[in-house]
Amino acid sequence: MASTSPSTPLSPVPFVDLSWQHQPLQAELNQAIQAIIADSAYVLGPTVAAFEQAFAAASGAAHGIGVGCGTDAIALGLTACGIGPGDEVILPANTFVATLIGILRAGATPIFVDCDPQTALMDLTAAAAAITPRTRALLPVHLYGQMVSPSGLRALAERHGLIIFEDAAQAHLAEREGCRAGSVGMAAAFSFYPSKNLGALGDGGMILTQGGIVAETARALRNYGASRKYYHTDPGGTNSRLDGIQAAALGVKLPHLAGWNQQRYELAQRYEQRLAPLADFGLQPLTNHCGSGHVYHLYVVRVTPQCPVDRSLIQLELNALGIQTGIHYPIPCHLQPAFAELGWGGGSFPQAEALSHEILSLPMYPGLTLAQVDQVTDAIAALVNPAAAPQSDAAENAAKAISTRP
Ligand SMILES: Cc1ncc(COP(=O)(O)O)c(C=O)c1O
Repeated sequence: MASTSPSTPLSPVPFVDLSWQHQPLQAELNQAIQAIIADSAYVLGPTVAAFEQAFAAASGAAHGIGVGCGTDAIALGLTACGIGPGDEVILPANTFVATLIGILRAGATPIFVDCDPQTALMDLTAAAAAITPRTRALLPVHLYGQMVSPSGLRALAERHGLIIFEDAAQAHLAEREGCRAGSVGMAAAFSFYPSKNLGALGDGGMILTQGGIVAETARALRNYGASRKYYHTDPGGTNSRLDGIQAAALGVKLPHLAGWNQQRYELAQRYEQRLAPLADFGLQPLTNHCGSGHVYHLYVVRVTPQCPVDRSLIQLELNALGIQTGIHYPIPCHLQPAFAELGWGGGSFPQAEALSHEILSLPMYPGLTLAQVDQVTDAIAALVNPAAAPQSDAAENAAKAISTRP
């Protein structure tokens, strides 16, 4: 164990820090924003069209339709795919609530399924078992930056005549089996919420699709249902358009995205390597089936019941050491009070429910250093297995924090 000499205070490790990516781009961002102001192209316009094309091309899709946020991309995207009242849409119970809200806003019926506890991704065997004559769509969520298997999804969809609509809000440029997120099915939804792998300077979202008719319908839906100016053909239309300023900022950031994703992957590798000895103590990272195609929007570990220290204590102690963590998500969708009337009770999806008590998201963002990852993992090691914890200031601080707690 580390010596008892006074330990060096370590700098805090935030959960996310966007300043590292924005600072070097500040001049370019300012210039791009000034150009929008000079052109008064605040809503849609040529900068939005250029970014739509660039992001669609980078993701392997034919069309991009910029909208107000990721939730709108799901709701309007599903509607553009012809999904509506009476249609059942299969989604994982352990997703961000926006996936569910998007389906409900399209007027469709959400059907939850359980997840694979090793990856937290939608369990395709459970999805197959949930298919009924009313099922129209599979809605996989590429959770935490890892894609659900495209071949598995396509095989299931083809067997039952279903469409695939991807929730790729956390998976910009993710890849699996040679497919990019956003190019697997009929359409996909992305979010550009600021902390996403590709984030705007406010809210933003995009629908990607290979289909010209879906794209045309989605373009009308986001713009009051107008197929041309003041000519409204779709009663389901609303106002949800990507702003010029957001598209300008996103266009500046897009060329850097692959490099930022690569950094996330390298940081995840370091976490993996440093946390490996703790697997025997019940602290297990989620499994990666995508290799470097996993874009690690979040780095999530499971604090299983075998772990000698429970999740809340680990989170509390890390927080006391200035290390921020998160839980994505503490309550599965089917147990959220707002959706109680959907009728799914506790015990409906045991894996999703168990995971909600075990998962812990560790700091992850481009700009996080390997030394900071070591600081986090040393602190966790000192909490979970003090006898074998490495001799470092972080480990010593963590050990002290524990030993001095009443
Ligand atoms: C999985 C998932 N789906 C949908 C959304 C909704 O995106 P937005 O916040 O842009 O509406 C998010 C973003 O938070 C998300 O993480």
